[in-house]
Amino acid sequence: MEKKQIAIIGAGISGLLACKYCLSKGFDPIVFEFESDVGGVWIKTIKTTRLQLPKVMYQFSDFPWPPSITDVFPNQQQVLDYIRSYATHFNLMPHIKFHSRVKGITYDGPSSDTWSLWNGTGEAFPPQGKWNVTVENTQTATTQVYTVDFVILSLGRFKDVPKLPDFAVGKGPEVFRGQRIHSSEYSAMDHDKAAEFVKGKKVVVVGFGKTGLDIARECASANGPEHPCTILYRRDHWKLGDWFPWGIPLYSLPIAKYDMVPQYSVLQDVSTGLITYMPNPENFFKAVEKGSIKLKKSQSCRFYDQGILIEEDNTQIETDLVIFATGFDGVGKLKSIFESPTFGHFIAGTPRVSLYRETIHPHIPQLAIIGYTESSSSLYMSEMRCRWLAALLDGVFKLPNVKEMKKDITRWDEYIKQASGEFHHLSTICSLEIWYNDQLCKDMGMNPMRKKGLLANVFEPYGPLDYAEK
Ligand SMILES: Cc1cc2nc3c(=O)[nH]c(=O)nc-3n(C[C@H](O)[C@H](O)[C@H](O)COP(=O)(O)OP(=O)(O)OC[C@H]3O[C@@H](n4cnc5c(N)ncnc54)[C@H](O)[C@@H]3O)c2cc1C
Ligand SMILES: NC(=O)c1ccc[n+]([C@@H]2O[C@H](COP(=O)([O-])OP(=O)(O)OC[C@H]3O[C@@H](n4cnc5c(N)ncnc54)[C@H](OP(=O)(O)O)[C@@H]3O)[C@@H](O)[C@H]2O)c1
Repeated sequence: MEKKQIAIIGAGISGLLACKYCLSKGFDPIVFEFESDVGGVWIKTIKTTRLQLPKVMYQFSDFPWPPSITDVFPNQQQVLDYIRSYATHFNLMPHIKFHSRVKGITYDGPSSDTWSLWNGTGEAFPPQGKWNVTVENTQTATTQVYTVDFVILSLGRFKDVPKLPDFAVGKGPEVFRGQRIHSSEYSAMDHDKAAEFVKGKKVVVVGFGKTGLDIARECASANGPEHPCTILYRRDHWKLGDWFPWGIPLYSLPIAKYDMVPQYSVLQDVSTGLITYMPNPENFFKAVEKGSIKLKKSQSCRFYDQGILIEEDNTQIETDLVIFATGFDGVGKLKSIFESPTFGHFIAGTPRVSLYRETIHPHIPQLAIIGYTESSSSLYMSEMRCRWLAALLDGVFKLPNVKEMKKDITRWDEYIKQASGEFHHLSTICSLEIWYNDQLCKDMGMNPMRKKGLLANVFEPYGPLDYAEK
């Protein structure tokens, strides 16, 4: 039988895992990667980036961290080296085309509007239907179209397309005399250059996610209180310290003193993944105490010629540089890869990216999305999904009919809504991941009880190694 051709877009952890599991089923996938290296977001980050969770939770099930890495929270270079060695160990490199930007994909096949089974058959490879993948080689500036039987999108959510706030005309950066950048521009600089860039400048960092927090700390250590860095943000989320005896975060942060108590429950912030890990919290609060970091909460702001004006109380924050650490437009990136607006709308037309098993859209043929839905450890979630997908591609199981798939998606939407409240649209399943994994295991014919003995299954935490193939 003719071998089916699979295209994988992206060589971050999700794309590498997809490649490895496709190879394990005898496919010969081709991976397109825009960068010159594997690792996605880990290729280049700001200096202080480390894993946000202990490394036991961020590892490949069949390729544990080497014993030479003794840090519980490895730094960016260590994570990148680990990802690279995974790609080398499983011989994934020959399958990757670097400097290859996928400009768009188009489907050539029957309409999916009225089918009752995904692809018309419930299987991954129907008798008709191909994707055309248009790829630009960024070194030679040439374009080639690849025709394939299946596409796996592993484009990532936190890279490439910055999300910037909108401002009314006359209130935006055009009226500001200083500089304004997105955090991705700061991350792209060499570490010394980044420190030099902020040196001696009064900085406002907009956004208090992990990137905003880290950049503000770097500015504070470069400048001290003479040139303070202001973090301007809309709402508080829970921050975790880095003292984890027996896996329990025990450092108590003085958040009440600095008016940083979130209006959300810890459980909700855990469920949405909005809880932030704050390494060396004592240093952060010392910087706040000294005035090197200032915290300002506000729902609306605008630019004026010298800086930022807070509209609620008319405070003017004079500044030389504004850094928007306001995240990325992951949905927009996903949507724009489809040349057909219909497929794009399937992705972006609902409050969250709603997929069957967080992977398949019932009306998008011969295509899977890996790594969009986040969890507390994206690596192990992507690995489970890739295993599940490879089993589907291999015909180990079939998908239920479209009506059943949609019912299941709606059910999961409800669970996620209950767990994530107003942040439902973030498509995060942190508090549901064991349950979710149980479903994947059952589909693949694997026992979801991965540990020996009932007590262990009920009381011991689950992690990536529990799902290693036995
Ligand atoms: C700084 C930072 C730190 C993080 N730390 C953690 C952490 O500690 N724990 C955790 O669980 N998660 C963390 N995350 C979340 C992180 O996104 C995931 O852990 C994971 O690395 C994502 O992998 P991915 O392969 O899904 O996406 P990415 O790493 O984003 O990889 C996507 C790849 O696709 C490529 N690509 C995109 N579009 C195209 C195109 N059109 N053509 C060709 N190639 C394309 C990109 O170049 C990229 O290499 C972090 C994210 C960031 C930004
Ligand atoms: N391992 C690490 O050390 C590390 C380092 C950096 C990043 N990361 C990860 O990378 C991912 C991206 O992180 P990120 O911090 O870049 O982005 P993010 O988590 O999306 O945070 C964006 C921040 O910007 C704010 N924001 C968004 N739009 C805004 C607007 N229009 N006006 C004002 N504020 C706005 C958000 O506030 P609201 O809450 O009010 O929306 C939030 O505080 C996350 O998963 C993060 O955990 C990890």
